[in-house]
Amino acid sequence: MSNFVSSFATLDQLSVQGKTVLLRADLNVPMKDGAVTDDSRLTRLVPTLKDLAAARAKIVILSHFGRPDGKPDPKYSLRPVAAELQKIWGQPVAFADDCTGPAAQKAVAALAPGGVLVLENTRFHPGEEANDLVFAKQLAALGDVYVNDAFSAAHRAHASTAALAKLLPAAAGRLMQAELTALEKALGKPEHPVAALVGGSKISTKLDLLENLVAKVDVLVLGGGMANTFLAAQGVAVGKSLYEKDMLDTARAIAAKADSRGCKIILPTDAVVATALQANIATQTVSVNAVPADSMMLDIGPQSAQAVIAELHKCKTLVWNGPLGAFEFPPFDNATNLVAQAAASLTRQGKLLSVAGGGDTVSALANAGVTDQFSYVSTAGGAFLEWLEGKTLPGVAALEK
Ligand code: 3PG
Repeated sequence: MSNFVSSFATLDQLSVQGKTVLLRADLNVPMKDGAVTDDSRLTRLVPTLKDLAAARAKIVILSHFGRPDGKPDPKYSLRPVAAELQKIWGQPVAFADDCTGPAAQKAVAALAPGGVLVLENTRFHPGEEANDLVFAKQLAALGDVYVNDAFSAAHRAHASTAALAKLLPAAAGRLMQAELTALEKALGKPEHPVAALVGGSKISTKLDLLENLVAKVDVLVLGGGMANTFLAAQGVAVGKSLYEKDMLDTARAIAAKADSRGCKIILPTDAVVATALQANIATQTVSVNAVPADSMMLDIGPQSAQAVIAELHKCKTLVWNGPLGAFEFPPFDNATNLVAQAAASLTRQGKLLSVAGGGDTVSALANAGVTDQFSYVSTAGGAFLEWLEGKTLPGVAALEK
């Protein structure tokens, strides 16, 4: 076990037998028309629920949902999410209308050993986002121990992710443990060479991330709109492609830093272009030096995809954040699919440790049909980005021994 993994307690060290456990989960799942559209954050909670139920613990789940701004708002109730969790867990999941006060106390008192209770949205109270100690103490009074499984909310220093961890004996749940272990293997103490694949539309949202990565990885593959900005910074005429005019100097500075750190930046050499971003529109594959003035680059080209795959064959570790093209609009998902499938195949052969995260990335890998074939796919969006930026996540720091 590395020093990192032993720096926080897990369920193997925390005594939970027969205790009332406050389990901070991230039930902030995407919903449409009252239905959960992606239940991965719920299914990934099951290993922790199983361990706690086996120890006859009373499981009291705390979570935020959406951004209700410190006051109750039925739109952001966790009730439908608790109902979905009940389907996945296959046993009753109780629900209380408030996460503190009499409603919460009554529901906790009624809980049987091994039972599960979801408390209403912690963000219905202003004390949650304020990381308020008085509010955290009200939460703490409901249980004996604290388990945090919400890696995806660990970039928030909120009462239920930070202050509460200091008020009760605390440990990481199985999902938090899996996330931290995978991330440590990918970037903390990785096997080199390490490739980072960063896509997405804008450099401006991933500046800190790029700065941190060029100092840590051996190869940085850029795709999506952000590659266009790097190309434009080299004087390439990008036609109507999305790029950030005010980021050209920044792109040049990142390229120079990469150079001085021995990190090779891989930019596309060809691209799939079209005159508009539409599914199944007429496309052309051109050299990046021959992008027609009326067209935009919407995916990296086949030659570029093969070059990326050739790099992956030389690497032992891959960290992936962001699609290579406008994958929501076929055929601009081609390169992302090809590279994702190649990474999955190398992973299956035991040649590559592959870790991916961030909202779009997970959808892109699902679209490529390889989600289950990566070494690890994070449940986190913003927290994964902040981790790639090299930041300390308050929810993780609070768990450290
Ligand atoms: C997420 O979905 O990334 C987390 O649940 C955090 O949500 P937030 O961005 O509203 O804090």
